Amino acid sequence: MMTKVEMITDLIRNRRSIFADYYIDKPVPKPVIEEVLTNAIWAPNYKMTQPWRFIVLQGEQLTQFGVYLAEYYKTQYERLLHYPARAGCVVVIIMRRSTKVEITEWEELAAVACAVQNMALTCTAYDIGGYWDSCAACIEYAARFELAPNERCLGFFYMGYYNMAEYTSSKRRTGIEKKVTWLT
Ligand SMILES: Cc1cc2nc3c(=O)[nH]c(=O)nc-3n(C[C@H](O)[C@H](O)[C@H](O)COP(=O)(O)O)c2cc1C
Repeated sequence: MMTKVEMITDLIRNRRSIFADYYIDKPVPKPVIEEVLTNAIWAPNYKMTQPWRFIVLQGEQLTQFGVYLAEYYKTQYERLLHYPARAGCVVVIIMRRSTKVEITEWEELAAVACAVQNMALTCTAYDIGGYWDSCAACIEYAARFELAPNERCLGFFYMGYYNMAEYTSSKRRTGIEKKVTWLT
């Protein structure tokens, strides 16, 4: 039986950005997506502005986005055409700025980033691959969802089951000895 610290450490350190090329043909059930999004909205947020909104793209929506992506980045046309449809779903990440509370943009942006990390960790717990894609094509594509003037797309969060046995990542981190200053 793992301790709570072992469990959270395991999720944080085993979370990886898993791209749609690695996804397998297995739908992500709606209750799972709902749980991922519910954990997202439990993120910390200054002044409780809850500055997020999400749009879930599935099915035909992903096919349509593939056409846009392929046209946008023509060099990888064939790959990108079918790329989004490999996902169980793609969540459009929207920052919705508060119009009532005085708060700087970065504080609301940081809250949305916390929400996305909650999504990523929840996906890890479900053995679902995911990653945040902030490509220009994603951001521009989101304009078709008629965002309000106080809303801004921060990218897409891809989700999909993947073959865990085959996936490896060589990405490492620079240790805290180089990143942390201790003052006493
Ligand atoms: C705000 C944000 C935007 C990102 N946008 C992209 C992106 O557009 N394309 C991409 O391939 N990865 C994107 N990533 C994922 C990073 O490439 C990834 O986190 C990094 O390479 C570290 O790998 P890991 O997540 O597997 O540890 C983004 C991550 C964050 C936090």
